[in-house]
Amino acid sequence: MESIRERLFAGGEIQRSVLLEALSGSQDGALFAEADALCHETKGNVVEIRAILEFSNYCGRGCNYCGLRAGNRALSRYRMGEEEIVKTAKAAAEAGYRTLVLQSGEDRYYTLARLLPIVRQIHETGIAITLSVGEQDTPTLEALFAAGADRYLLKHETADPVLYKRLHPEGTLAERVAVLREIKRIGYETGGGFMIGLPGQTLETVADDLLLINSIGCHMAGIGPFVPNPKTPLADAAEGDVLLTLRAVALLRLLLPNCNLPATTSLGVLDQGSRDLVFSSGANVIMRKVTPPGYREAYEIYPGKGGEIRSILEERKALEEYIYSLNREPR
Ligand code: 5AD
Repeated sequence: MESIRERLFAGGEIQRSVLLEALSGSQDGALFAEADALCHETKGNVVEIRAILEFSNYCGRGCNYCGLRAGNRALSRYRMGEEEIVKTAKAAAEAGYRTLVLQSGEDRYYTLARLLPIVRQIHETGIAITLSVGEQDTPTLEALFAAGADRYLLKHETADPVLYKRLHPEGTLAERVAVLREIKRIGYETGGGFMIGLPGQTLETVADDLLLINSIGCHMAGIGPFVPNPKTPLADAAEGDVLLTLRAVALLRLLLPNCNLPATTSLGVLDQGSRDLVFSSGANVIMRKVTPPGYREAYEIYPGKGGEIRSILEERKALEEYIYSLNREPR
């Protein structure tokens, strides 16, 4: 019998109908098994752990789903200074992390002049730097790359241009994708991604989301279910479907076998069991917060149980134990 992957690439071009069929849930067993087998072929039995430092929760944008949106007056805002950011990054490197994601809202306080010394000093520790600081112009992206940033995350969020506009008053899908393509052209390892279950999204949208990530040729992609945040205009919307999220991750593994695919935090927030399962349906990466206590609680994109805060080293050890418990090897 033909595999789903063979049917997906039948005739030398990607068969959107095969994506739609698999997204509808008609072949979950085969889909997850194939994605898992391919993941083992390309990534071995390893789950990569990345540290994430959320250094500012200020944001100039008003994205309707996100708790950091500028209009959310209920959030107490913070910015970390250069010294504190670099110190935390060093602690993450010492705890064994090989990659640090530096994430913030779209906070114009962090100009290129403020970001450069941060990137340079962290680069000296040898840890790989992933930036996740929103849309930036090309000269800024180029200068940060030259200073030692290795990777860049910028999710397209939804491939439906009308839905995109409705959710993101300040931008367009075309602008978003143009920045992503610049990131790729400059030479960053490029991370994309999108949400499952945004109000108004259909299976067709999800198929287009997958095709867009494929056409950009993303090196990484985070797919997470939408979690309604009571402090946003989408407070009363339904949460995303976790099983549909698993299918989308599995299909992306079939489309881009070498892609780094995280088990997203929002998946764990909605259903811990699904987050365990996603590691046997295509995912090979997990992120762990190293954001200092006091700030961490305020970085609330969507509601979720924070959990007990321990030291960076203890938290990393606990995550390694979790990965071993799934019979996978942490790195
Ligand atoms: N539910 C789930 N994910 C969300 N994100 C933002 N808001 C939400 C939400 N309410 C995701 C977006 C963004 C990433 C940092 O978090 O995909 O890129």
